[in-house]
Amino acid sequence: MYLTQLDIRQVRNIHDEKLIPGQRCTYIYGDNASGKTSVLEAIYLLSVARSFRTTHIKHVISQNSKYLQVFARIQNENEQAAVGLERSLQKTRIRINGSDVKKVADLSSLLPVQVINPDVHKLLEQGPKYRRQFIDWGVFHVEHDFLLSWQHYYRVLKQRNAALRKKQNKQTITLWDDQLIQYAKIITLAREAYLLNFIPIFNKYVDKLMGLSVNIKYQRGWDSETSFTETLLNTFEKDYLKGFTSFGPHRADLEIWHQGTQVQNSFSRGQQKLLVCAMRLAQISHLKKEKNQDSVLLVDDLAAELDTKHRQNLIELLVDTKAQLFLTATEQNSFILPPEIESKMFHVEHGRLKEVVQ
Ligand SMILES: Nc1ncnc2c1ncn2[C@@H]1O[C@H](COP(=O)(O)OP(=O)(O)OP(=O)(O)O)[C@@H](O)[C@H]1O
Ligand SMILES: [Mg+2]
Repeated sequence: MYLTQLDIRQVRNIHDEKLIPGQRCTYIYGDNASGKTSVLEAIYLLSVARSFRTTHIKHVISQNSKYLQVFARIQNENEQAAVGLERSLQKTRIRINGSDVKKVADLSSLLPVQVINPDVHKLLEQGPKYRRQFIDWGVFHVEHDFLLSWQHYYRVLKQRNAALRKKQNKQTITLWDDQLIQYAKIITLAREAYLLNFIPIFNKYVDKLMGLSVNIKYQRGWDSETSFTETLLNTFEKDYLKGFTSFGPHRADLEIWHQGTQVQNSFSRGQQKLLVCAMRLAQISHLKKEKNQDSVLLVDDLAAELDTKHRQNLIELLVDTKAQLFLTATEQNSFILPPEIESKMFHVEHGRLKEVVQ
């Protein structure tokens, strides 16, 4: 799968640009503030209908415009798809092959997108929510039905928490427990099955990129010795006082350890970045292996914080995944792409993209 056409309208300083990306790699370079990250942001928007830079779409829509639009043609093995997204402050409109579609997941499943940007190390430092999102991205793309169970779980959890907050009687609150337990089981089994296959691939990438090994531990969100049913019973009084459900898959986390310390406390910034790159590479490889599904990989400002050797090594591994790469840099020659891969180069200036014929 790869994008054969990309149209971007009113995304930050990009007003109306069309480009034909390289089948394997698109190299975008330009000065600071020229619009490089905005191109990647547009592709990301098309996959998940939101930005990786801000939660407020109003910052992404060009000033003086009421909406943004991104359109792409996707080439799959034997078929093509045309996908479009329009977002205003009030509305999101998704079109697939000329028909309106309600669910963002329909877009995401056609176009799995991963991002590696100068912020990636935050995946290790920030709250567990981001690491759960990481695992769930992987599970969802292998097994699309996972999203339904996930949505059910969170809906029931919300109801149970509302009942706890309102201090309703025990019987009313625990009425939700059967459903909560049922969906918790599906989510947890799916995450564990995913990680079982993911971890060996991840370990391989950590070794290739960093020449060391780490220990990845999955915390399912409640005590590993106790069943979820028992946990809900044991913690009822506490939950009642706090007004929310303390344990469950909504508290799951991934911990990464190296020599007895969690990596966010011991690894350098460059090492943290390489480690998260290994996580993303492993997800892309796993998806390719399990479902023969290619991803689009957006790599913003790869040169930041990586020395030439690690950068070049990473580029080669990125290319090896067969993902369609979109790479940005401030210079025309920040790194060397393997000459055999089909790539295109664009120069960006004031939000205008111009192909550079090499
Ligand atoms: N909503 C908006 N409308 C118009 N322009 C915007 C909007 N938001 C940001 N910009 C501008 O868009 C330009 C491009 O930003 P972008 O982050 O894409 O640049 P960049 O090429 O990635 O720069 P850098 O090398 O510094 O990362 C900037 O000048 C920014 O101020
Ligand atoms: Mg940028």
